[in-house]
Amino acid sequence: MSAEELPPPPAALFPEPALRTQVDDLLTRTLTAATARVLRGPVMPTLDRARLRAELDAFDFAAPRPLEELIAWTVKQLEQGVVHMNHPRYFGLFNPAPNFPAQCADRIAGAFNPQLASSGSSPAPVEIEGHVIRAVARRAGLPARSGGHFTTAGSEANYTALICALTRAEARFGIDGVRAFAGPVAMYTSRECQPAWFKIAHQAGIGRAALRLIGTDGKGRMDTGALVRALAEDRARGVVPVLVSATAGTTPARMIDRLAKCARIAAGEGLWYHVDAAWGGAALASARLRPLLTGIELADSVTIDAHKWFATTMGCGMFITSHPQVLSEAFRVSTDFMPSSVTQLDPYLNTMQWSRRFMGLRLFLSLGAAGWDGYGAHVERAAELIAHIGRQLAARGWSVANDSQLAVLCVVPPPESAAIRDIVRRVLDSGRAWVAATTHEGREVLRICATHGESSLADASELVAALEAAR
Ligand SMILES: Cc1ncc(COP(=O)(O)O)c(C=O)c1O
Repeated sequence: MSAEELPPPPAALFPEPALRTQVDDLLTRTLTAATARVLRGPVMPTLDRARLRAELDAFDFAAPRPLEELIAWTVKQLEQGVVHMNHPRYFGLFNPAPNFPAQCADRIAGAFNPQLASSGSSPAPVEIEGHVIRAVARRAGLPARSGGHFTTAGSEANYTALICALTRAEARFGIDGVRAFAGPVAMYTSRECQPAWFKIAHQAGIGRAALRLIGTDGKGRMDTGALVRALAEDRARGVVPVLVSATAGTTPARMIDRLAKCARIAAGEGLWYHVDAAWGGAALASARLRPLLTGIELADSVTIDAHKWFATTMGCGMFITSHPQVLSEAFRVSTDFMPSSVTQLDPYLNTMQWSRRFMGLRLFLSLGAAGWDGYGAHVERAAELIAHIGRQLAARGWSVANDSQLAVLCVVPPPESAAIRDIVRRVLDSGRAWVAATTHEGREVLRICATHGESSLADASELVAALEAAR
């Protein structure tokens, strides 16, 4: 080798095109076969962790292994080692079976690996993401000036809402932090909110004690009278309220706060009004369910997770705001090394992240392929399936504890049944279905959520039979 020659690139990392195609084909066939086996098998993991750890110990990364062998090994671990969200009897924690266009999007994003920090390096992806965000904003009825971005998840979107609220409430916040406020800061949401708000308050530096958990009205919705009282009491004590966050689809029971009423209260107090519609936002797609979200159009900002009821692959949240200039204020930074620096356009100047994956392509392809009507049919089907399960269980003496149309059912078994956590454990042990125990309005309930777009009436019957056998 002459002094001017480089060694070849490591073939294991950068194989030649023909080999890539061969491995790609093998991967596709392996995944198709694995998915077919998953559908026939238990929902719960069957993993022997001791065996996995022993096998992992053998990966000392000293000697390379063939990629085909590694792929086969990995798919086997996932087949045995996860709760199967792609199983139609996973009635679980809001994690969807991923839709196919979103899976295609992940392949495209992986192949091009665009850097979405700036429009200079990724003009097409930045335009596509912005277009989808504006389409969802319009669907929600937000003003035409609205903007926003895709986030890693709902938690990042909610965190962004708090940062925007703080930034708008006090001009010096960006420089001096919470010390800039005339008193301790507080934010308001209901006690049935998603608990990541505690972490958000911690991270943002307002402290966990700043999170006011407002009581609910007996149906899981924020008690607006209690909200008004909490605001007045706090102001009287010198506390500075900054944010009201209503929930459109609470985590325990998917109830919807009185969005328009909360908007009026927040506006009357001059506060940033956020709607956390991480799950419920997908109802915007359905003409029938859309009215449930009336009032969302009054929000200063909205969180919607495409990786929940829109059924994209994981890590596809959205933060949408009618004040995009506040994002530019909160996330501004000055540098000369980025390929472009356009205020209100370049993601690294308007979001928490710097390097960003092309997350929004998942919703672009799925919304493009299904259209709003296709998504409307998807969410309505889930709502109908849950209503059907509710009727089946009610006929067997179970009582329904929530009044949600957002494809989530909270039920209590008939008297003399086993404890709810024991019923859940038995159902999971049986591998026949996946359900959860949770607390709604201070009462333990069993929660069933239609997260799989292909769950059938036969799957519902199997679930009901599994619940009856377990109680
Ligand atoms: C209402 C609500 N908000 C926020 C979140 C957090 O979203 P993520 O898990 O995407 O961070 C959830 C998760 O279930 C949720 O239900």
